[in-house]
Amino acid sequence: MKIAVIGIGAVGSVIARELKMLDYDTVLFGRQPKSGFTISEAGEEHSYPYRIETMDAYQGGSFDVVFVAVKATALRGISQTFHHLINEETEVILCENGMGYEHYFDRPVPAVVYISGQKKNDRIEHFQDATLLIEDTSRPNIDRLITALDKHPETQLEIKKSEDFERIRYEKLLINLGINSVTALSKNTSKIFELESVAQLTRAILEEGVAIVNSEREIVSPEFVDRAMAIYKNYNPEMGTSMYYDVMADVKTEYAYIQKHLHDRKGPLETPVLDVIVTLLEAYQYKRGY
Ligand SMILES: NC(=O)c1ccc[n+]([C@@H]2O[C@H](COP(=O)([O-])OP(=O)(O)OC[C@H]3O[C@@H](n4cnc5c(N)ncnc54)[C@H](OP(=O)(O)O)[C@@H]3O)[C@@H](O)[C@H]2O)c1
Repeated sequence: MKIAVIGIGAVGSVIARELKMLDYDTVLFGRQPKSGFTISEAGEEHSYPYRIETMDAYQGGSFDVVFVAVKATALRGISQTFHHLINEETEVILCENGMGYEHYFDRPVPAVVYISGQKKNDRIEHFQDATLLIEDTSRPNIDRLITALDKHPETQLEIKKSEDFERIRYEKLLINLGINSVTALSKNTSKIFELESVAQLTRAILEEGVAIVNSEREIVSPEFVDRAMAIYKNYNPEMGTSMYYDVMADVKTEYAYIQKHLHDRKGPLETPVLDVIVTLLEAYQYKRGY
């Protein structure tokens, strides 16, 4: 079996490292060719001498499974340039936060990503987890890969199928909606949840988000708002979010696939808080590109 990993950043490097332990032909793709990458974990640093190549220079034929682990903002570009890596049976696992990018791909397999890390220059810090959750549907290539991962308990990567995937994916979107909005716009870490005013604002964002998600039928329980608030309050106060780090680095954010994705689906619902959040994030994005 041939596997590709596109995007060797915080998420992709962990996926790549684990897949390289299997007896498959796994090829890594980045924006620039490199001779390897370094992951630091629990205070220890390890370098992996796995070659990273660019997609445009690759002439080795197509893959059975492709993991795409770039920011959602890069997905459209990838979908337009990776045709030589796929064939009619290729299963493309999308490892991004957010929603609304699947239609760029012919056979997308969206995953809810439980891999926590951060890329800092050329070093990747892996904080915790190495799990991808996907819908419980038969997919021949991914199913073979899951069996192979199960037979190799030394690999940390888990690809789990969930019968309740739709709800879990929306809950992840809502978690990102709440915390990414307030940390990015305040340029501050999770310590802001110590402020009652921030907690109230976040609760209001979540309530509007849940109302949008449930506008046609109940997908997420309204009680989820309490659960999300409890999750935020348990975060390490120094922890940022991907949107917070993007704003601090002055680069474009994934807002089009999180806040704007939900806002575009609000229909006749009144969403005064989300309206303001989306306007401010759009203003931030303005001239930085979408
Ligand atoms: N980090 C987390 O803890 C976490 C947790 C859950 C979900 N996620 C989601 O996972 C996705 C990936 O996030 P991440 O944190 O891994 O981002 P990241 O660290 O920035 O990694 C993205 C990687 O993709 C590469 N890339 C960009 N465009 C490319 C292209 N055209 N071809 C090949 N490689 C390309 C980047 O290269 P350059 O470095 O050269 O730009 C970078 O190495 C996001 O949707 C994020 O929201 C992240």
